[in-house]
Amino acid sequence: MSFTHPSPGPWTIKRGQTTLTVDHPIIAGPMAGGLDPPYRMILHRIGCPLSFTEMISARAVFEEAGRTNRLFSWLPDEGMSCAQIFGSDPGYLAHAASEMERFGHHMIDLNAGCPKRKVYRTGAGSALLKDPENLLKCVGSILDAVKVPVGIKMRMGFHHLEERSLKALVSDLQGMGISYLAMHPRTMVQQFSGKADRELIDRMSSWTDVPLIASGDVRSPEDIMDYLGRGAKAVMVARGLLGDPTWIRRAMAALTGGSWEDRYPRTRVQLHHHLFLLKEHLASSVEWYGEERGVIEFRPHFGWYLRNFCGKREFRNRLYSLTDVKGVMKLIDEISPVWAGSLHDDQSLIIQSMIGAHRKDLSE
Ligand SMILES: Cc1cc2nc3c(=O)[nH]c(=O)nc-3n(C[C@H](O)[C@H](O)[C@H](O)COP(=O)(O)O)c2cc1C
Repeated sequence: MSFTHPSPGPWTIKRGQTTLTVDHPIIAGPMAGGLDPPYRMILHRIGCPLSFTEMISARAVFEEAGRTNRLFSWLPDEGMSCAQIFGSDPGYLAHAASEMERFGHHMIDLNAGCPKRKVYRTGAGSALLKDPENLLKCVGSILDAVKVPVGIKMRMGFHHLEERSLKALVSDLQGMGISYLAMHPRTMVQQFSGKADRELIDRMSSWTDVPLIASGDVRSPEDIMDYLGRGAKAVMVARGLLGDPTWIRRAMAALTGGSWEDRYPRTRVQLHHHLFLLKEHLASSVEWYGEERGVIEFRPHFGWYLRNFCGKREFRNRLYSLTDVKGVMKLIDEISPVWAGSLHDDQSLIIQSMIGAHRKDLSE
């Protein structure tokens, strides 16, 4: 499999005199409960060029003013970061955006897609799509409040796609000066069912000059190239990253001439690397949240890293009775021998690939 077009190279997000260069087109999408600061730090170390924060309530930022909420802050170890805020009140959103800029985030995103009832009930998230007038007011007040680039992540509609209104909305947003547009081409009613409507990305790319970021069902390098071929400047990966921090690096390797490897370790070296990252993730979580909360926040990630591995349930049940980091590290050490039995030996894998190369030589 080789990918030659279009190039998976750097791209830029601009506003006024500011130009942010993103190293490549695979970025980490926002995921409440999945992409917290400890995981963003791991992803950055492994080659993720830009990640979105979990959605942050603009009202909560206002109510917590003066207190330090570490969830809002940004650390250099997270790399380039886009703070995603949600709300429906232009005043709260402007305040939250300026706080996020002050904390060091590189850009601000308005959530116009969240399908959760408790969010859209307040007029925020996907409900903004039903009230374009307020959506535009919200974007305007965010733009006025900050100097960093501002964008919006949206779904294609609330109940259904109304393409003419969407096109008009995109044109208004571009006219106001947004710096990118991220689209998850499903409606709010669809939630995560069905397939993302990729053809909408083809059409949208002709409606706008700002970078279009596509989100939805990106699971392989072919998915990435498909979206880029339709005119997206970048793709966002969300669920594909859960428990799989090397996903972006492996995808980039495949896009630049290597072969695609799925998430499951085939060799002892890969297994050790997977478990090493699991431990790093735990350490990062504990450093960020403190020991007890760090272990608790780590629990779902542990399940995702072990997805589809034998013995997963037993290990997960044991994890839930632990609250100390030493105990969890010991538990992770017990995983290796259980899995290792079902793996190829590195040596045999090397020999196999040599035989493969030899056969190829003979056939040429
Ligand atoms: C658990 C979970 C939490 C999410 N949280 C957010 C969020 O906070 N803000 C947002 O804009 N999208 C959120 N999303 C949507 C994703 O960013 C993404 O658009 C969607 O999952 C489709 O991409 P995927 O197929 O790569 O997962 C979330 C998705 C999941 C599964």
